Amino acid sequence: MAKRWVAALLAAMPWMVESQAEKPVYAHFIVGIVENYTVDDWKADITQAQEIGIDGFALNCAPERIDGYTPKQLANAYQAAEELGFKMFISFDFAYWSPGDTADITDIVGNYNDGAIVSTFVGDNMDWNAVKSALPNQKITALSNIQDPSFLASAQTGLDGAFSWYAWPTDGGNSIIPGPMTTIWDERFIQNLAGRPYMAPVSPWFFTHFNTKNWVFICEDQPTRRWEQMLTLKPALVEIVTWNDFGESHYISGSQPNHSDDGSSAWASGYPHDGFRTLWAPYIAAYKSGADKPIVESDQLVYWYRTTPKDIVCTSDTLGPPNGIQYLADVVFVATMLTEPAELTMTSGGNAPVTVTIDAGIRTTNFTIGVGQQSFSVSRNGAMILSGTSDKEVTSSCETYNYNPYVGVLSST
Ligand SMILES: *[C@@H]1O[C@H](CO)[C@@H](O)[C@H](O)[C@H]1NC(C)=O
Ligand SMILES: *[C@@H]1O[C@H](CO)[C@@H](O)[C@H](O)[C@H]1NC(C)=O
Ligand SMILES: *[C@@H]1O[C@H](CO)[C@@H](O)[C@H](O)[C@H]1NC(C)=O
Repeated sequence: MAKRWVAALLAAMPWMVESQAEKPVYAHFIVGIVENYTVDDWKADITQAQEIGIDGFALNCAPERIDGYTPKQLANAYQAAEELGFKMFISFDFAYWSPGDTADITDIVGNYNDGAIVSTFVGDNMDWNAVKSALPNQKITALSNIQDPSFLASAQTGLDGAFSWYAWPTDGGNSIIPGPMTTIWDERFIQNLAGRPYMAPVSPWFFTHFNTKNWVFICEDQPTRRWEQMLTLKPALVEIVTWNDFGESHYISGSQPNHSDDGSSAWASGYPHDGFRTLWAPYIAAYKSGADKPIVESDQLVYWYRTTPKDIVCTSDTLGPPNGIQYLADVVFVATMLTEPAELTMTSGGNAPVTVTIDAGIRTTNFTIGVGQQSFSVSRNGAMILSGTSDKEVTSSCETYNYNPYVGVLSST
C-alpha cells in the first residue's frame, strides 16, 4: 500500500524521482564454487536474490590461470543478469590477482563493466588510474576493499570509494574479539572517505572448519543487529557478505544443488540459511528507501542456533574446536517479525518454557539452550498465531565440530 502511494506521488511529482533513488544492495558471490553452472543455475540464484530486493552480485573471481572457468562463468552470469534485469560487477579476488595483472583486469572491466562498479577482496595497492586511463570512454566506479581505512585519506590509486571486509567483530586481520558487532570500522571508513561512497558489509555469521582455518567470529544476534546498524548509519551502498560462501558459513542463498563442494558440506549441508532471507527482506527494503525501521507486513518468526553447546567435545575431529568459541553464548536466537505486540513462548530442550511479551516490528530475543527439541509459539490476545518445532535438535554429542547455525522460519498460514 505504502509503495503504491509513493508511486502515485512520484507520478504526480516527477522531480522527486531523483531524490527518492533507492540505495543499492549487492551480495558477494563466490564464482570459485560454480565451475559448472549453467545460465539457468545463475538465473535460479538471481531470482532468489531479487525476491528480497538484492540488486546485483559482486562476482568474486580468480584469474583464468587459477580457475580456467572464470571467463565462461562471467559470461554466464552477465547473460543471466541481462535476461532478468539484475546487475553484476566484478570483485577481483586479490588472494589470486595482483597489480601485475592490470592488463587482464582492464580487459575484463572493458568487456563487462558498462559504467558499473569494480571491487576487490583485498588488493589495497591496485592502481585503478591505469585501468581508467586505458578505458577512457567508460565510467568506472572503483570501490576496492581496503584493509587500513586511514590509507583512504591520501590514496592516489584512482579509488572512488571503498568497501570494508570487517563484517564481523574483529580488531583487524582475523583477530577474534568478543561481540557484539559494532560500527567502529564503518566509522573509520566513513571518516577517511570524507564524503566518497562507502560500501558497508553485512554478514549474518562466520564459522569455518578447514585444516587451514578453524575459527568463529562472535556473531550471535548480528543477523538483526547489523541491519539495525545500517538503518542508522545509512551508508551509500551495502554488500551482503555473502550470497554463497558455504565454507565460511555466511551464505544466505538456498541450497543450490549445482555448486561444487570445497569440503564445506560437512557443516553447511542440512543447515539451511533461507530464514535469513525472510528476515532480511524488510531490512533491505528499509535501507533502500532510507527508512529508520523495517516495516513488517505479516507475522513471522526466524530462529537460529548452534546444534551443540560449546562444552561438548566432538569425538573424531582432528582439527579440534574452532578458535573463539569461549566468547559464544549457548542460546537460541529468535527474531520476531510482528505486526502488533504478542507473547512469544520458547521451549528449548528440557528447559522450562519461557514466555516474554514482544513489541511489534523486528525484535531479537535469546533463550538459554537446552539439549533436545526447539519449539516456538506466538500468541496474541489469547489466540495462537504461530507455532512449530524445529526440524533440527540440539545434541549433546558430536563427531565433528559444527558451529554453523541452523536457521528456521515460522510463518502464519
Ligand atoms: C542443476 O543441475 C541439474 C542436473 O544437471 C539440472 O537438471 C538443473 O536444471 C540444474 N539447475 C538447478 C537450478 O537445479
Ligand atoms: C565440472 O564438470 C567437469 C566435466 O563434467 C567435471 O570433470 C568436473 O569435475 C566438474 N567440476 C565440479 C567441481 O564438479
Ligand atoms: C541475550 O539477551 C539478553 C537480554 O536482552 C542480553 O543482555 C544478552 O546480551 C543477549 N545475549 C546474546 C548472546 O546476545
